[in-house]
Amino acid sequence: MSGGQDDLLVSVEGVYKHFPIRQGIVFKREIARVHAVDGVDLQVRRGETLGIVGESGCGKSTLARCITGLHPVTRGRILFEGADITGLSKAGLKAFRRDVQMIFQDPYGSLNPRRRVGSIIGDPFAIHGLADGADRKRRVQELMELVGLNPEHYNRFPAEFSGGQRQRIGVARALALRPKLIVCDEPVSALDVSIQAQVINLLNDLQGELGLTYVFIAHDLSVVRHVSDRVAVMYLGRVVESADGEDLYRAPRHPYAAALLSAASVADPDEAERAERIVLIGDVPSPVDPPKGCRFHPRCPKARERCVSEDPELVPREGDPPSHPTACHFPVEPGERLSGRQAVIAQVSTEPDLPEADR
Ligand SMILES: Nc1ncnc2c1ncn2[C@@H]1O[C@H](COP(=O)(O)OP(=O)(O)OP(=O)(O)O)[C@@H](O)[C@H]1O
Ligand code: SF4
Ligand SMILES: [Mg+2]
Repeated sequence: MSGGQDDLLVSVEGVYKHFPIRQGIVFKREIARVHAVDGVDLQVRRGETLGIVGESGCGKSTLARCITGLHPVTRGRILFEGADITGLSKAGLKAFRRDVQMIFQDPYGSLNPRRRVGSIIGDPFAIHGLADGADRKRRVQELMELVGLNPEHYNRFPAEFSGGQRQRIGVARALALRPKLIVCDEPVSALDVSIQAQVINLLNDLQGELGLTYVFIAHDLSVVRHVSDRVAVMYLGRVVESADGEDLYRAPRHPYAAALLSAASVADPDEAERAERIVLIGDVPSPVDPPKGCRFHPRCPKARERCVSEDPELVPREGDPPSHPTACHFPVEPGERLSGRQAVIAQVSTEPDLPEADR
């Protein structure tokens, strides 16, 4: 993989996605906004897997839906192969969706239980008028074989398959149109651990075979580690750190990334020994009115006065390569231990000034 502009498949530029909260029966007044995605810049290169991690509610799925054109953005641009997809017409979006597919978290809810798997997997051919009759059946059976399903089970219903097999059905459906990008939104979170590895291996094999590019979303860093070339860590609608996978795992710079990493299961005993668990205080603040300054400051073991007033930019910090930006005024230094320093937090006024109803 090289890093040239030609390699760039997706460029997310200053993207915001806000959901209005309305009140009133007749005149629905906007009383507030959920800042689900709040100024994200990201790049995805051809052939790579970009992992996106972060706690529940930090905006991963919303960002995924913006990238795949399922949500219109509030502000910003998303370039796919250099062309802006944010203002596409209906016809333009339909064409774009041949190139970009999504795999969802829930292998149960995302498949219609009353339809046979052959017809579910064949949907994209039907929607785009690409194959019908015997031709469609043949292509669906080829896809079933590709993802490790028995093509003879073409006429079965989703309920006749296990969770892992159902996720393979979702993968087959996503592959039907030979997309360039697949956005996997927590594709293994609902599966047993033993099955997770099978689905991840399948996705890896398919990537090698078909030259796919993935955006792989998870809230668990240890899952993302197995699949990602690069990782972006999200917090409250923003990317707070991104880096080549191993750089991030070796030396996370953002205190939130360090905390997430310390909570992930570590296979290497030496690493486990080094990795002291950092317990974050408090809940994620409301995305309706994110904290001023650094939005992580109410929970950050390193917070100081500057963090309360000044929003840190996502830029490479001293000593880091351009590929490793961090949004933090006081990044974690090599060998620095964060746990046990939480008392520092109590000395800083950290309460976001939210009205009670929004919490
Ligand atoms: N359609 C919507 N209308 C209003 N608010 C929404 C909508 N979709 C998401 N949100 C809100 O936006 C924020 C981000 O949600 P999102 O689903 O993107 O988070 P996530 O990181 O995918 O979380 P999880 O790990 O739980 O899947 C949350 O506060 C959520 O409640
Ligand atoms: S800017 Fe301050 S509060 Fe924010 S992550 Fe860095 S040290 Fe913590
Ligand atoms: Mg989600």
